[in-house]
Amino acid sequence: MAKLIVVSNRVTLPEGRVLRAGGLEIAIKSALSRAPAGMWFGWSGKVAVQPQALQARTLAHDGILYRVTDLSEEDFNEYYNGFANRVLWPILHYRLDLAEFSRHDLSGYMRVNTHFARQLRQVLEPDDYIWVHDYHLIPLAWALRNLGCTQRIGFFLHTPFPPQEILIGLPNHERLMRDMLGYDLIGFQTADDAYNFSRYLARQLGLPIHDFTFRTDERTVMVAAFPVGVETEKFARMAQRTQHAHFVKNMLKSLGNRKLIIGVDRLDYSKGITYRLQAFERFLLNNPQWRSAVTYLQITPKSRTDIPEYAVMDRDVGATVGHINGTYGEVDWTPVRYVNRPYSRAALSGLFRTARVALVTPLRDGMNLVAKEYIAAQDPEDPGVLILSQFAGAAQECKAALIVNPYDQDNVGNAIAQALAMPLDERKSRHKLLYDAIAKNDISLWAERFLSLLMRDPVSGGGFVPLRA
Ligand code: ADP
Ligand code: F6P
Repeated sequence: MAKLIVVSNRVTLPEGRVLRAGGLEIAIKSALSRAPAGMWFGWSGKVAVQPQALQARTLAHDGILYRVTDLSEEDFNEYYNGFANRVLWPILHYRLDLAEFSRHDLSGYMRVNTHFARQLRQVLEPDDYIWVHDYHLIPLAWALRNLGCTQRIGFFLHTPFPPQEILIGLPNHERLMRDMLGYDLIGFQTADDAYNFSRYLARQLGLPIHDFTFRTDERTVMVAAFPVGVETEKFARMAQRTQHAHFVKNMLKSLGNRKLIIGVDRLDYSKGITYRLQAFERFLLNNPQWRSAVTYLQITPKSRTDIPEYAVMDRDVGATVGHINGTYGEVDWTPVRYVNRPYSRAALSGLFRTARVALVTPLRDGMNLVAKEYIAAQDPEDPGVLILSQFAGAAQECKAALIVNPYDQDNVGNAIAQALAMPLDERKSRHKLLYDAIAKNDISLWAERFLSLLMRDPVSGGGFVPLRA
């Protein structure tokens, strides 16, 4: 029987599962649940102590096979911390200024992709389908093709794809982008990302796209946008149940009558947390009537802590929180509660439901699932208000949110005041539009649309989002 093999850098093993923030896991599980036979392949999350742990091992759980390999310390530093997270991550988020390129890291990145390909090939059957996720694994299709694999291979980029003017700042960009040509289907979060990619192909590689496809000597490659969704109804039900949990009730009790503003993000510079805190400070400065009447809860588990840019950010956010609390706090009021730990999805859903305002203001984000989860969690009869960055992929679908420029403190500060004062009728009508948008494109549809295209022969048009909305 043909298997669907999903490949991502990190695999969440069913045993010894630790809470971790990140949007990929739910999406992958949804994809695997649609196939009669499925395997999730990638890194175990461990750095190998014994060399034999570099050989992939397979375990089965709930009808899914998990095949994982450890990484050596050198691989972890060069591939994950180095090229993936200090070069590709900043560049894909338009931050060429933060990219730290080194040839060692590039060769570590290529080496791990080759290692993954070899370990994967051992279990490949001729009619399997392979779906590769995210920027860690751009060259994987070519690495597999070089080993003689002819299966259909799809790729989905969870991050933004920047305009070619930024991408060409990456040394050896042509080599990496040519590696994308080993895929049969390439998916992006938004029509703008797909457009940026197609413009790169035409201008830099001389491969214009027609009818959502381009042709190389070896294959016909389809390119399209597949905006990733959340488990809308399931998340809504979970939030409805969890609002009555002790944990949520205790939190509400600790607030007194204050309204709750919430932010939930990994500690990552792309999320714009320092700018957001500064905008909250601007709001307090310009709206003294709200002082002592709101609490801003920012839940931010640490992420990629070995990387210097993340350590700098950690200090900046901590210092900004301290500054705001020191300047505006009272003996009985702390304006910002800052928490660095992960929570279960259920706990987050309950907190979202109780928050009158959500601040989702990334400087750049492929999609941002927190925005969609917040919408799903609201009580339709008394919903909260989403303040959403114009630079999040989610803004293309969530037009009824208060859309802001995250760099503009007055704009975000005024949006907070507007959200807190918004009449119930307006909150309800905005929420209905938002909920309908995310229900129409939930996570199961996302996986279905991608897989149905991957699993059929190349055709043009029909059933997917065009390159330009
Ligand atoms: P990214 O993938 O860049 O981290 P997304 O917003 O797309 O950003 O996805 C983040 C996912 O991680 C969401 O599903 C969110 O609920 C989850 N998450 C964020 N913060 C936490 C946290 N403190 N505890 C647990 N999960 C979290
Ligand atoms: O696309 C965002 C992403 O890189 C996902 O792959 C992952 O879910 C999340 O960020 C967390 O990143 P990491 O695996 O580096 O902790």
